[in-house]
Amino acid sequence: MRIYLIGYMGSGKSTIGKRLAHLTGLSFIDLDKYIEERNCRSVPQIFAMEGEDAFREKEHKALLEVSEFDNVVVATGGGSPCFFGNMELMNKTGITLFLDVEVPVLARRLAFSKTERPLIKGKTRQDLTDFINSNLEKRRPFYEKSQYRITGTEINPEEILRLIEKG
Ligand code: S3P
Repeated sequence: MRIYLIGYMGSGKSTIGKRLAHLTGLSFIDLDKYIEERNCRSVPQIFAMEGEDAFREKEHKALLEVSEFDNVVVATGGGSPCFFGNMELMNKTGITLFLDVEVPVLARRLAFSKTERPLIKGKTRQDLTDFINSNLEKRRPFYEKSQYRITGTEINPEEILRLIEKG
């Protein structure tokens, strides 16, 4: 079994992914961490030294590798579904689940997050909200290709499991 968690930055893919992996006995993979390990550079370093296009290529390559792992929950990056047919790849190789969280919640979480994210670095709260609104509008069609969608701020892994088991 292979479950991919899809959604915008701050939607809780890593937090929920870890809990879902624990609940199901599957292994947890954070795609950003996997990219960092394979390239011996952090995500912000890759963006700064090689640019976003190079990051997207590395991300696609990482996803191709991870899509061959068995019994995993994969927390993807917020942009992963939107490049190089990654969404099709994930739908072909596993269960995809979109964590659909409202913009004000995303903005609040991202404003307080300690993770460095190159795309939103240095943005004021208002800039952040504007950016999320327009960026999410472009990304939503990709996210919505997921097989399952779950909404709300307190998404729990039991709920995800029930949804998947129902089919
Ligand atoms: C990105 C999201 C990040 C990371 C990179 C780009 C994006 O992952 O992959 O900074 O394009 O939305 P998270 O969604 O885990 O923050």
